[in-house]
Amino acid sequence: MELKGLILSGGTGSRLRPITHTSAKQLVPVANKPVLFYGIESLKNAGITDIGIIVGDTAAEIEEAVGDGSQWGVKITYLPQEAPLGLAHAVLTAESFLGDSSFVMYLGDNLLRDGIEDLVDAFTTNGPEALILLQEVPNPEAYGVAECSDGQVVNLVEKPAEPRSNLALVGIYMFTPAIFECCKAIKPSARGELEITDAIQCLIDNGKRVEPHVVSGWWKDTGKLEDMLEANRLILDAIETDIQGTVTNSEIHGRVIIEEGASVNNCTIRGPVAIGRRTSIHDSYIGPYTSIYYDAEVANSEIEHSIILEQSKVIDLRGRMEGSLIGKNVQIIRLEQRPKAYRFMVGDNSWIGIV
Ligand code: DAU
Repeated sequence: MELKGLILSGGTGSRLRPITHTSAKQLVPVANKPVLFYGIESLKNAGITDIGIIVGDTAAEIEEAVGDGSQWGVKITYLPQEAPLGLAHAVLTAESFLGDSSFVMYLGDNLLRDGIEDLVDAFTTNGPEALILLQEVPNPEAYGVAECSDGQVVNLVEKPAEPRSNLALVGIYMFTPAIFECCKAIKPSARGELEITDAIQCLIDNGKRVEPHVVSGWWKDTGKLEDMLEANRLILDAIETDIQGTVTNSEIHGRVIIEEGASVNNCTIRGPVAIGRRTSIHDSYIGPYTSIYYDAEVANSEIEHSIILEQSKVIDLRGRMEGSLIGKNVQIIRLEQRPKAYRFMVGDNSWIGIV
């Protein structure tokens, strides 16, 4: 059976503001690669090459980053969604693209350590109407929550105040076209969205089989700062050293990626660390679990466990920076001018901790 892929990359990304005021949350890089790209690669590795991407306000940016998919050997079709009206609404938006194919739906901000090949095999072999991925979490109220019995999913609730299990829905789902009818049958939830959780519950209520798979490797929904840093840590933990840029007068420990055109001078780099193309780092310490994207600069500073996006500068910072996510084109610099004062130009919903 030929499966199609559906990646959801619309939505607003309110929880990663201000980073996502100006850009798509699915393009925020983890270990210097946009989150969305991991999803495309995962589908491709499972043999799925006909992929639709749901896009919203940030469509232009997503299309520019992903292109026609040829960089992965897949074919991408963009599917504009009129507004982020819910995951089930996104499925209906894709109805004519999906036609009568079964499909894998992948939320564009989800990251899964392991591939989905085995799950796709189980789905095509066992032939349920839907196969969903689950993982035990300490805070199930933040997710869709499933209850299982005798190897079947029997009940699903979206972000329940009082969860009846600790099994969260991972943002990767496999469906037959039976899901369309259920997406049409449901009503918007309290948050005003057509919930895929409700559509899957509708399958169950109509006597259809929904198969659960508890994933053992790590999974992250990268919608929040802490999750983003944690995802960055987990991905960096598995990198191999690859030094393409120039390193002078520096000590490099552990596994470090330094991309082409990057320069590291007079530094100590303690991996795992990723440094993007054309980024310049000098007279600095870059500690474990730090990703610095392209065309950035770090000078006379110490940074650990942080993500810095493209074209940003961190210069002459006196204290060590850690646990931070710095957006695009941000400058954090020491000024010599008098009076000696803090000078900020900071966007809405930003967060600054000083020592
Ligand atoms: O991450 C797993 C969770 O994802 C599940 O446990 C929940 O059951 C599921 O509802 C979903 O919850 P979120 O509240 O985290 O979904 P979010 O609004 O972040 O949307 C997920 C992705 O889908 C994101 O990349 C944006 C995109 N999206 C979202 C909506 C609502 C769309 O493309 N269109 C939409 O209408």
